[in-house]
This record gives sequence, C-alpha cells and structure tokens, in this order.
Amino acid sequence: SAQLNELAQKAGKKYFGTATDSPELYSHATYFSILTDRKEFGQLTPANGQKWSYIEPQYNVFNYTEGEVVTNIARQNGQMLRCHNLVWHRQLPNWVMTTTSTWDKANMTAMLRQHVYNEASHWKGQCYAWDVVNEGLNKNGTYRDNSIFYQVLGEEYLKIAFEAAALADPSAKLYYNDYGIEAAGPKAEGAKRIVKLIKDAGLRIDGVGLQSHFTVGGTPSIDRQISNMQSFAELGVEVAITELDIRLNLLPPVTAANLAQQKRDYKTTVGACMQVEKCVGVTVWDFYDPSSWVPSVFPEQGAATLYFANFTKHPAYHGVVEAI
Ligand code: XIL
Repeated sequence: SAQLNELAQKAGKKYFGTATDSPELYSHATYFSILTDRKEFGQLTPANGQKWSYIEPQYNVFNYTEGEVVTNIARQNGQMLRCHNLVWHRQLPNWVMTTTSTWDKANMTAMLRQHVYNEASHWKGQCYAWDVVNEGLNKNGTYRDNSIFYQVLGEEYLKIAFEAAALADPSAKLYYNDYGIEAAGPKAEGAKRIVKLIKDAGLRIDGVGLQSHFTVGGTPSIDRQISNMQSFAELGVEVAITELDIRLNLLPPVTAANLAQQKRDYKTTVGACMQVEKCVGVTVWDFYDPSSWVPSVFPEQGAATLYFANFTKHPAYHGVVEAI
C-alpha cells in the first residue's frame, strides 16, 4: 500500500519525515525498518542529540557523537535531515545556565556565536534545514524572558544566531521553530515579528517551523491553519510542520471515538500543508507510541503517534494518506 513520503513527494512536497531518538529500538527490526524506509519517511530529525547539552557539555568542548547517531542513519538510508536545534532555553548544560552574573553582552555574544558556528559547520551541507532558534516566544507573543540568551542579550541574540548559522552553512534553510503559532493569534504575530527582525537586519531567515503538538479535538481547523501558513508565506519565508503529534486523553483509555477524532485531526493538519504551496513538508515527532515524548510530559495523555505499540497503524495513519 501507498507510503507517506512517496505520496507526499508525488504531490509536490519535499518530504514526509519523522523525529527519532530511540537507540534502544535501533536494533528492533520492525521499528528500524519503518524508520529507515525512505518511502515512508524521507526525512529524519534527531529529537535530542543535536541539543546544546550534548553538543557542548563543557565550555568550548564539542561532542557530536549523540547527534551523529541519527544523522548517520539518515545518510546511510538516503533520507533528508531537518537539524534541531542550535539555540533553545531548554536542555542547556549547567555552564550556560549559571547565574546571569557570569555573562555579559560581550562574552555571551562570543560563546553563542561560537556554539552556533561550530555546530552548523559540523553538519555543513547535510541539513535541509536548521531550527536556528527554538521556542523564543511567550504565549502572548512577547519574547520569552526565561531564556538566558534573552536575559543577557535581548532580541540581539536572535540576530547573532541567524548570522552565525548563515555563515557556517550557506545551503541549509534557516528556520525559527515554535509551538502555538499554528493559527492566527498573538504568538503567531510574534513569530512574524521575528521574521521581520532578522530580515530588517539584512540577515537570512528562510522558514518558520510550526511544531503542531496538538490535542485530539483541540486541533485548529483546516481554514485557520491554511490562512496562518499563508500569512507567513507572504513575508517571503517557507513553512513546515516540524513536530506533529496529536495526543489523546488516556482517561478514559483509547476508544474508537477518540481514534476517529485523531484521524480527522491528522488529516486536517497534513491537509493544510498540502494546500499551501509554501509548506514544504511534514515531520511527525516520532511515529511509534512507546517512543513518543508525550506520556513523559503530559500526565494521562498519550497514543499521540501513527503506530500502536504492536506496530499496527492508528486510523490516523490512514487519515494522513487521505490528506495527501
Ligand atoms: C523533546 C524530546 O522529544 C524529549 O525526548 C526530551 O526529553 C524533551 O524534548 N519541542 C521541541 C522538541 O522543540 O525539542 C522537544 O523534544 C519537544 C517539544
């Protein structure tokens, strides 16, 4: 039967992909064969290994081993890469998180530039896209002020990051990536402000990543998702769905009714991307319920992906097929 990446590419998209970070499953024949089947997933995202705490655990000590686990799988199987991420307020090593008194504008600018430049250089030419800055906004669209980078540098940190990434890897598309920007509202306006900030500084930003971590029944309508995507495209950037999952409330446990709603919600979201020319592709945030991040973060929620624990497909899988 038809497979997701194959269908998406035939329909004019660049890829349908998945995130993964399950080393314990890379020796599991079924998980690994789905993960590496280019007809199913034409693109991989390392869910954790390229984050700061792995890449630069000590100041000026760089280690790419963890990130390469997934980027090597992608290379060996002819899959595209979305690289994730260069700057985020979370999963930072302690040396970055030390009290702001350690940092002043000058030394933080230097260390930020070096981190972004070194990491993007390491994977130069291999990443279709880099999430340069991840989750830089509050819900109300103002800059996230619990980010140490914002605390020390203000909005300047975004320009520093995009500038260093562009210098290091001229061929990677440079993205701003966030959740809660999948439909019109103050946070989506904030993301547009970031696009303009970077462009007005004469720097390069190529895309906006819509994470799309949704809840069943709480997914924005297709019209709202489409018009939101178009409003980004009007600023001269592409968009992508970068971290799609749609979680169920597990109390009561999974029912046919909530699986049917999940199918509609996946179809809605993938369908929105299909209808917007500037939406280049869709990435799900893992495809297998047991390796999804959802249960560890959202109590009593789960079953958010396309495959059950026994590797049968959710109805949502067929919803995606219908959407493409
Ligand atoms: C998540 C990973 O999937 C988890 O394994 C980890 O413990 C926490 O981070 N938004 C993002 C991703 O941009 O990096 C997050 O990934 C999920 C939310």
